[in-house]
Amino acid sequence: MVSAWLMDDDSNDQRLEHHRNPPEYVTLDKLHKTVGVEYFKINPETYETDEELKNLKSKRGYTYEDEIVISKDCLPNYEEKLKIFFKEHLHTDEEIRFVVEGSGYFDVRDPEENWIRIQVNPGDLLILPAGIYHRFTLDTNNFIRAKRYFVGEPVWTPHNRPCDEMDCRQKYLSRMSKGFEE
Ligand code: LAC
Ligand code: NI
Repeated sequence: MVSAWLMDDDSNDQRLEHHRNPPEYVTLDKLHKTVGVEYFKINPETYETDEELKNLKSKRGYTYEDEIVISKDCLPNYEEKLKIFFKEHLHTDEEIRFVVEGSGYFDVRDPEENWIRIQVNPGDLLILPAGIYHRFTLDTNNFIRAKRYFVGEPVWTPHNRPCDEMDCRQKYLSRMSKGFEE
């Protein structure tokens, strides 16, 4: 099950949990209402024939999919990529990741500029909305295999913070002010 918490401000080893003392957890409901992150639990053993995943893909128009493996042996330019992933950035589209194997952390900014660390494990499908400032890191297991979905031709470009003038950012902030109700 996915778990999320507010991070401490200790800047060493990004792969550690970085809990506050005492830990301050963030619920899935709060994640959705405050930062617009959505979560689905899908069986990683049977996802290829999973009805809920199939419905989600068709409802949201995810016509593209591929798989990314992040590990020293599988990802070209591993160290460089990890640095890029961990730089605070946003995208013009949703970032959809379904973890099939391994684990990692997606960090997202809350409205008070705190980092919320979202721990993902096999079976966790996370949707980060367009325009959200975020970053990703492996944890101490140094391995993740995840499916990526996209509406149409994928655009993976990260726009590093600050890029507040971007349309997707302004739209995100407007959605945030309405509690992501739509
Ligand atoms: C991405 C993640 C790492 O942009 O945020 O692919
Ligand atoms: Ni990203």
